[in-house]
Amino acid sequence: MRIDVLTLFPEMFESPLSYSIVKRAQEQGIVEIALTNIRDFAMGDYRKVDDKPYGGGPGMVMMPGPVFDCFEHVQSLAPSKGRVILLTPQGQPFHQAKAAELSQQKRLILIAGRYEGFDERIRIGLDAEQISIGDYVLNGGELAALVVIDAVVRLLPEALGDEDSAKDDSFSNGLLEYPQYTRPEVFRDMKVPDILLSGDHGKIAEWRRQQSLDRTRQHRPDLLDESDPPS
Ligand code: ADE
Repeated sequence: MRIDVLTLFPEMFESPLSYSIVKRAQEQGIVEIALTNIRDFAMGDYRKVDDKPYGGGPGMVMMPGPVFDCFEHVQSLAPSKGRVILLTPQGQPFHQAKAAELSQQKRLILIAGRYEGFDERIRIGLDAEQISIGDYVLNGGELAALVVIDAVVRLLPEALGDEDSAKDDSFSNGLLEYPQYTRPEVFRDMKVPDILLSGDHGKIAEWRRQQSLDRTRQHRPDLLDESDPPS
């Protein structure tokens, strides 16, 4: 997979993309991540990328020109057209099923905005889908783009070693993950549940499933709501 990111702050991505699974996936050629600075496509001495909103109101809006020019340059860097995604609080909520769907794509082009948002013609002209990582407003789309990259890359075939399989992750089956324990058997008077020491794999699987259900019912009943099934 190739992931292009269009951003005004490419430096914000460097450290988070240089650790652990995402780092290894890049080194192994499972994913190529390319950062392009939108400001490199801005005109004039001030390289302006934002301007006041028509109709008045607070804040500034990202101008379409630099984003279109940057996008057209980025698209020419690789043959596949790519799925174009704007990170914005106005987008569709991001969830595990969306991460799984995006992990099937050959190429993603993520556009991280700043200021009060994007000129609407960016969304329309680039035929972009919009994704939000939650109902809160960040200072820009960079952290949201990093969240999407992190969640997608771990689902790419071969990105996880056997020791960190994604199949039991929370949400992968629509439920929260069951509780996990490791050594020691007793820690500060808290004991590992006997069932996990029993060696009975059938009983352990049954216990874990029940724990997943109980936790989901307790902490995230919305995931069990039949009228709004986990997707
Ligand atoms: N940009 C600012 N807030 C955001 C959010 N919640 N999700 C995605 N992009 C954003």
